[in-house]
Amino acid sequence: MSDNKRQPEVNIGLVGHVDHGKTTLVQALSGEWTDQHSEEMKRGISIRLGYADATFRRFPDRDEPECYTVEETGPDGEESEIMRTVSFVDAPGHETLMATMLSGASIMDGAVLVVSASEPVPQPQTEEHLMALDIIGIDNIVIAQNKIDLVDADRARENYDEIQEFVEGTVAEDAPVVPISAGQDVNMDVLIGAIEEEIPTPERDPDADATMHVARSFDINRPGTTWEDLTGGVIGGSLSKGELENGETIEIRPGREVEEGGQSEYQPIETEIRSLQAGGETVDRVSPGGLLGVGTGLDPSLTKGDALAGQVAGPSGTLPPTWESFEMEVDLLDRIVGQESGSVDEISTGEPLMLTVGTATTVGAVTSARGDECELKLKRPVCAAEGDKIAINRRVGARWRLIGVGTLKG
Ligand code: GTP
Repeated sequence: MSDNKRQPEVNIGLVGHVDHGKTTLVQALSGEWTDQHSEEMKRGISIRLGYADATFRRFPDRDEPECYTVEETGPDGEESEIMRTVSFVDAPGHETLMATMLSGASIMDGAVLVVSASEPVPQPQTEEHLMALDIIGIDNIVIAQNKIDLVDADRARENYDEIQEFVEGTVAEDAPVVPISAGQDVNMDVLIGAIEEEIPTPERDPDADATMHVARSFDINRPGTTWEDLTGGVIGGSLSKGELENGETIEIRPGREVEEGGQSEYQPIETEIRSLQAGGETVDRVSPGGLLGVGTGLDPSLTKGDALAGQVAGPSGTLPPTWESFEMEVDLLDRIVGQESGSVDEISTGEPLMLTVGTATTVGAVTSARGDECELKLKRPVCAAEGDKIAINRRVGARWRLIGVGTLKG
């Protein structure tokens, strides 16, 4: 955990159907996009996985839940105290962006599921995102019943019951449902109280080897910069464990693709950390929580245009292996999410599957399938540990559909 309470210490996914109000809620809680203020941003680093940080505060002399706020001062000039800063991963609600949502989920410690009170429950992505939380194993959930300003009290109550019924038997069964209006700033204090209660900051082991999941990578140099003035490549992502320090040498896996004798292979990259940015500030050390930007000594052409997205970084020699093919244990869903009918057929040899492993998305061809196990050859290798969870998608009609979860066996 960080001593600086403005550095986020926990990642909270914001999920839910398109237009149900995720972005509006993040804005209501964070006021603004934090990274717009940073020096780095002015220099051109803009690390966006749809992240925004929110600092939760409390008025010491008020009772719960009225004490919870994001404001520094109250209407009578009373000052609030900082509780902690959280980082919201604003997952895109559009159905084709499911993979992005899943890769964001790999670094989520909890989630807020936003459900609009003005539409029948569930809408397709409400269901699909809840299923994804289930699969990735995120059970610290708060449900925000949004847009209550658009419905009357009877309809709000009916919709509340529909939500309760919908989450029965799922990972969100015991999650509190908080009626809010993100647009009108209604019940935000109750929502903050529920998040504080349900999504605590996980215990972190500061001595664990650092593992950073790279979500983005950049070349922050303006066109025409001469080589003397070039700044090294930047990677952006989140730490799932351990700490990183400025000046330390890190390895990035799978690394870069090199051609040798007509064959291409991936070789790990080693580089030095030249700057660290977290919570919108330049820091010497970072711990898990929020998004961090790591300035490296790499040739910026290697990091340009998200070229290293999906890779893993950490101290040299400590990272898990790189896999070009692997075997996984498969747990299929009973039916395809978002479709009334359509049971999930067994995985068959030869079929292509889209896999999300950590922040990496890759396509794999099934080379052998039997019962609840299958072997795959990947188009692009991934760095992952045995036991890691893998979201499995199959092409159904025009799009990839989530069909189950795999566990990497080796
Ligand atoms: P995607 O990012 O596209 O998935 O959408 P989203 O879930 O982030 O929804 P967004 O926050 O963009 O809100 C969608 C629309 O609903 C916008 O026009 C908002 O102004 C409106 N909206 C959000 N919250 C509320 C609310 O509490 N009340 C009312 N009346 N409108 C709201």
